[in-house]
Amino acid sequence: MGSYKKEFAAAGNAPGDKAGSEIPENSSAPADASRYASALPPGVPVKDDAESFDNPVRPLSFGEYIGQEKLKKNLLIFINASKKRALNLGHHDLDHLLFFGPPGLGKTTLASIIAKELGVNIRITSGPSIEKAGDIAALLSAVSNGDIIFIDEIHRLPKPAAEMLYPAMEDFKLDIIIGEGATAKSIRISLPRFTLIGATTRAGLIPSPLRDRFGFTARLEYYGAGELADIVIRSAKLYGIGIEEPAALEIARRSRGTPRIANRLLRRLRDYMVYLKKERITVEVAEFGIENLGIDVLGLDSNDKLFLKTIIDKFGGGPVGIETIAQAMNDEKDTLEDVVEPYLVSCGFILRSKKGRIATELAYKHFGLAKEDSMF
Ligand SMILES: Nc1ncnc2c1ncn2[C@@H]1O[C@H](COP(=O)(O)OP(=O)(O)O)[C@@H](O)[C@H]1O
Ligand SMILES: [Mg+2]
Repeated sequence: MGSYKKEFAAAGNAPGDKAGSEIPENSSAPADASRYASALPPGVPVKDDAESFDNPVRPLSFGEYIGQEKLKKNLLIFINASKKRALNLGHHDLDHLLFFGPPGLGKTTLASIIAKELGVNIRITSGPSIEKAGDIAALLSAVSNGDIIFIDEIHRLPKPAAEMLYPAMEDFKLDIIIGEGATAKSIRISLPRFTLIGATTRAGLIPSPLRDRFGFTARLEYYGAGELADIVIRSAKLYGIGIEEPAALEIARRSRGTPRIANRLLRRLRDYMVYLKKERITVEVAEFGIENLGIDVLGLDSNDKLFLKTIIDKFGGGPVGIETIAQAMNDEKDTLEDVVEPYLVSCGFILRSKKGRIATELAYKHFGLAKEDSMF
């Protein structure tokens, strides 16, 4: 987490800096960037993204965060109101937030931007790294008023841990059991007014008592090509790579609507640029790289294509259950549902029916097939 602190320091953005947002600075925001250093209590494991907070292209403010306009507008309204209330309360009291959507769309980034806008600490953990209710108790007992706790993959929180969260989120109380057997006693301790931000790829897997305790739930949408091109151009600048605008648009079109994929493709094309002895990423470099990486016109990767081909070739276009597809592909059902399927649905290639997944006519066309061709 030290790197997180460093990044804010390096960016030279004092908390409360407008940094592109329209929220006026307010006196409750501390002036010390070290406030952002997030120290987890001992024993609570940290899970961070492969692209950590060291990632030089991760946006640090709403101004740098491209797209998701409706969501940003709402968040700015909530943040602004919390800043106003903080003048009287002496601390923030932002309601708990839940972000859901496929990986790489900017959920973790948003959580860190919100903490920065508010000028509060953020503690980052994830569902799978919390093993027992005691881990939640340890996490919550180390926060201060106004702090943010970010739980990634919150749908994977073990049940006892999730249940520990219910009174904590609602009443800011923790029920702790002391002792064992007949002498066991339950005691209630008060917690500081923290804000929980949860992120998940699977909102449907969150138990409803947990879901109901979030004051605001937002779905992150796939990005349009124009927005992704802007993200690519911004990232290229930060990486110090020259890029032609049409090449940025080419990357944007092939990135499955996902900033993380666009940034990764940009870094790969930087390598092809060197190989082709070019000074910058031109359309020629982009086309050469995309061809060699096996990414198709819509940005579908080999896994996407295998998913569609499996339904079309092995199951006559469906309907076929996701478990059966997973078995045939020798892949994890969860990965297919979280990562592969949502984009194919958004492209109109897959229909979800009660009987299973169906490949649409569009999917057949994409492979140059007629729907009748593959029926058996
Ligand atoms: N709106 C955005 N504008 C610019 N870059 C973004 C945006 N959203 C995400 N990114 C980039 O994509 C990467 C992945 O975002 P992240 O927040 O880790 O996604 P998630 O948590 O949803 O999987 C970030 O490191 C950042 O570089
Ligand atoms: Mg994340």
